[in-house]
Amino acid sequence: MNALDIIAARRDGRVHTEEEIRFLVHAVTAGTIPDYQVAAWLMAAVLRPLGVDETAWLTRAMADSGERVDLTGLPKPWLDKHSTGGVGDKTTLVLLPLLASCGITMAKMSGRGLGITGGTVDKLESVPGFRINLTPEELKEQAGRIGVAITGQTPRLAPADGKLYALRDVTATVASIPLIVSSILSKKIAGGAETVVLDVKCGSGAFMTELASARQLADCLRETGRLCGLDVWTEITDMSQPLGEAVGNALEVREAIHTLRGGGPARFRELCLLLAGEALMAGGKASERESGYAMAREALDEGKAYRKAEEWFFAQSGIASLEEVDARLPVAPSLRVIVHEGASGWVAEVDASQVGEAVLDLGGGRREKGQAIDPSVGVECLVAVGDRIEPGQPVFRIHASGEPAADHAQGRLASALRVSESRVEARPLIL
Ligand code: URA
Repeated sequence: MNALDIIAARRDGRVHTEEEIRFLVHAVTAGTIPDYQVAAWLMAAVLRPLGVDETAWLTRAMADSGERVDLTGLPKPWLDKHSTGGVGDKTTLVLLPLLASCGITMAKMSGRGLGITGGTVDKLESVPGFRINLTPEELKEQAGRIGVAITGQTPRLAPADGKLYALRDVTATVASIPLIVSSILSKKIAGGAETVVLDVKCGSGAFMTELASARQLADCLRETGRLCGLDVWTEITDMSQPLGEAVGNALEVREAIHTLRGGGPARFRELCLLLAGEALMAGGKASERESGYAMAREALDEGKAYRKAEEWFFAQSGIASLEEVDARLPVAPSLRVIVHEGASGWVAEVDASQVGEAVLDLGGGRREKGQAIDPSVGVECLVAVGDRIEPGQPVFRIHASGEPAADHAQGRLASALRVSESRVEARPLIL
């Protein structure tokens, strides 16, 4: 078996054998295949998508590229959540401590930003000293001690995903359902979860821009989960506008802290509660979504989730309080407020893709493999679809490294906002 034959097979649409997929994943993990050959296979796999069995084989091979965390001995349920990727999607930062404070063991594997979508690993790295490369033993020990732990892909946990993920990010090979499914589920299997709640994002700020393709992604996640022995739950949620106000790594951590404290943008808080309700039902802690929602709201309102988040951040960063975390987040040197220059009306669109691109341009994401990112930069979106808007009202706040970068982002954001003369309803969160 050799890499060239496997690339050619994919190019010609021939179904891979399980051995071929294992060979490829092993070579990626061991570093015995060059990036250009992996990138060629990835592009062929985007153009000739893997079938159901191939996707399950790839998922298992990627999960087995490292160790699997064995959570035996920890209180059940063992649950994980994941988003398929969105702009301003910081739900993990709220959901993890929220669900842990309701008695669920949350041992989570996350990734970095992909394309215009942010990644939890990058967000948490904006907190000085936050350790996001736990060993399997550390992940288990911490999840057992405080109920919540998170790690990125490491040489011991889902290393194949770590390598493929970094290449997909910079070769326009992210938006493929089988590649997304195997990437997400391999991390969930490696992290030891039994039940997984997946937020499938749909809209201009997601990899699936149409409801039909988001449904296909959700179906493929559940089917592959079934073939791999995972209990997978999916919700399709709106990603046509940024989630919450903040887009950018440190800004999003700050917004998550405000939400845990009881504030935060209403739409973001509501999505966290809806997903928490679903997770509490999936984990058997609530008999239906509504009682799960009420349980989660109480944990948030009574400060249980906030206190759990303080334990979590202390365990992985050594910073004792969320107030101190907030105070130590990096701040961009240049701040610019953009106001609405048109007539009064209703906000009809805040295009998540344009906002995501603006944040990438500001340096908040990567255009090349391994590129350093600037955690301090980003955009705050001060209006949402359905809001009434008046001339002169602030609509975006740009956090940039300097004036030229802010000018550039301002140009990009000029086409992100659309205002209608007639009333526009707020968009539903769950599609
Ligand atoms: N999240 C992941 O972990 N992988 C993907 O491919 C997309 C979103």
